[in-house]
Order: sequence, then C-alpha cells, then structure tokens
Amino acid sequence: MKDTLILAIESSCDETAAAVVKNGRTVLSNVISSQIDIHTLYGGVVPEIASRKHTERVNQVVTEGLKQAGVGLEDVDAIAVTYGPGLVGALLVGVSFAKGLAFASGKPLVGVHHIEGHICANFIDHPELEPPFPCLVVSGGHTHLVRVQDYGKYEILGRTRDDAAGEAFDKVARAIGLGYPGGPKIDKVSDEGDPDAIVFPRAKVGDSVYDFSFSGLKSAVLNYLNSCKMQGIEVNRADVAASFQKAVVDVLTDHAMTALDEGGEKVFAIAGGVASNRHLRAAFEEKCNARGIKFYRPAPILCTDNAAMIGAAGYYEFMRGVRSDYSLNAVPNLKLGER
Ligand code: KG4
Ligand code: ZN
Repeated sequence: MKDTLILAIESSCDETAAAVVKNGRTVLSNVISSQIDIHTLYGGVVPEIASRKHTERVNQVVTEGLKQAGVGLEDVDAIAVTYGPGLVGALLVGVSFAKGLAFASGKPLVGVHHIEGHICANFIDHPELEPPFPCLVVSGGHTHLVRVQDYGKYEILGRTRDDAAGEAFDKVARAIGLGYPGGPKIDKVSDEGDPDAIVFPRAKVGDSVYDFSFSGLKSAVLNYLNSCKMQGIEVNRADVAASFQKAVVDVLTDHAMTALDEGGEKVFAIAGGVASNRHLRAAFEEKCNARGIKFYRPAPILCTDNAAMIGAAGYYEFMRGVRSDYSLNAVPNLKLGER
C-alpha cells in the first residue's frame, strides 16, 4: 500500500513546530522552535509575543521540517494543523500558514485538535497501541481523563474544575521562585526534597470521582509559604516542590486507577507536557505493573508540544475522511471531539 505523508504544523502556545509523519506512526522529521527563553523573562507566556515569534519563525520551521524529512511539499498527502484549543493569536499563525500552503499546493487541509494530538503521540512510540484505551491528558491548559473509543472518538470521563495540572506546577514554581516553565524545574528540584515533609491536601470533587481540582492545592502551598514568612521560618524549596508534586501525582494516579478498576481495561496511556514528569511516570509504572496493566507513555520530547503528534492525529483524521476548507479558523476553546 502507498505510504501516506502528513505535513503537520503546531503553533498553539509557545512552540513553533513542524513535522512530517508517515502513516500516522513514523516520524520523518520533528522540528521544534521553542520560545521559552523569551517568555521566561516575563514569568509566563505573553500571547502577543508568542504570535509575533510564530510569525517570524513558521516559514523557516516548516521549510526545515520538509528538508529534514527529505521530501518536498509535492510529496505530502495532506497538511494538518492545530486549530484549537490554545492562544487565539498563536493558533492563527499556524492556521493561516497551513491554509496558504494548502491553497498554493492544492493539498487537502486537516484541522487537528491539540489534545487529540497529545493523545496520538502515543501511537508514534508504541506501534502496537490501538484504541480502545483510557488516557490521562495532563498539560499546561488541560487535565482530562479520556476513554479513546476509536481513532478520533473520545469519551471524557473527568476533567479539572479549575486549574490544569501543568498550570498548578507553573504557579507553585513561580511562588517558590523557580521561574517559568515550572514543571521541569519542580521535577528536578524535588529530587533534593522530602515528598513527605509537608502534607498538602488531595482534593476530591464531591459529585464526580474522575474530576480534578488543583486550585485548592495551589492555595494550600501559597498559605504554607505565607505562614512560614510570617513566622520567620526559612522555606525549604525542595521540600515544598517534592511535597506539592507528590500531592499532584497521588491525585492523578488515584483517579486514573479508579477508572481502570471500574472499566477493567488492561492498557492505559498518559499524554501532555506534565506526562514527561519523571515522578508521575514512575508512579504510573508501579501502579500499572501491580495491576497487570500495560502502561504507555510517549518519550518526553513527544509529551511537550510538538508537531509530530499533530501529524499522527492528522493522519487518522485524514484517513477517516476529515477535510477542512479555507474557512478554517482558530478556535481557542475547542472541545475534544468537536469539529
Ligand atoms: O503540553 P504542553 O507542552 O503545553 C500545553 O498544551 O499546555 O504542557 C506544558 C505544561 C507546562 O505547564 C509545564 O510546566 C508542564 O507541562 N511540564 C511539566 C514537566 N514538563 C513540562 N510538568 C511537570 N513535570 C515536568 N517534567
Ligand atoms: Zn500541549
């Protein structure tokens, strides 16, 4: 059978990325131009700067993506692009560029959901993985426990009621002076801390066993820091980081294990930027092993934002006949499973 090549473009937040993916599973190129160094100066992503940097870089990144894959635009079967959710101005850059390319080349255009991309990153590293399977998506903007019923078909079991897991990492990191982006810094500094030093709350959401809430945990950390300050006690940042991280990992693993016990599935996957957290990966590995559940997680570089995952998701959308027209627009709050 003829190979299907997807050129994918991602610009929903602070990474300008392009990739060429073969048959949804094989990455021929994966170019990521990160803006982290610029946003670090401001302690978080500045949307206007993100849009401007995407505009400056998108052409070069896409050109490089094709070059590294050793193909030309004429060789690809479709152009996939993230059209939501994300920062509207950032998304618009990728969407507009992809529309221009599709128009100029006559290639089909496929709009892809960013979270679907995160989930599909698992298909790249695990050729044997096929739906159905439950997946926990934990990123800077999202915390979703999802049942992947089929390619492109998702049932949402639970979601966060307030902050996303990554957002909590970023806010706590800022509060203890680690800077942006917080997740990787907390991951690292907590190696030197005691995860049992401080007991932070594990929030339960009353009417749903699968929903999450992280704002209470974030407030508990802020309260702890304040009370230390008022009492003149020196804060041990590594202990705070490790204890906070343990609280997040406990809640995420508990909810996911409840869903697995209930659904009886023997496979489970994680995805999204927070899924690159070493402690979260180790905790899931251990809990899944104990239950005889096969645990899937993408390589860390495919957990954080990239275009290869958009190429994987775009392939499956393309194969099931999804096509976008030139009216495709950025949808900042696009829901999973919606078009
Ligand atoms: O998926 P992603 O790259 O972008 C979104 O779609 O949001 O996720 C970014 C988030 C940030 O909040 C970042 O702090 C978090 O993922 N993150 C981590 C780690 N690496 C990135 N959180 C915890 N531990 C990490 N190692
Ligand atoms: Zn993301």
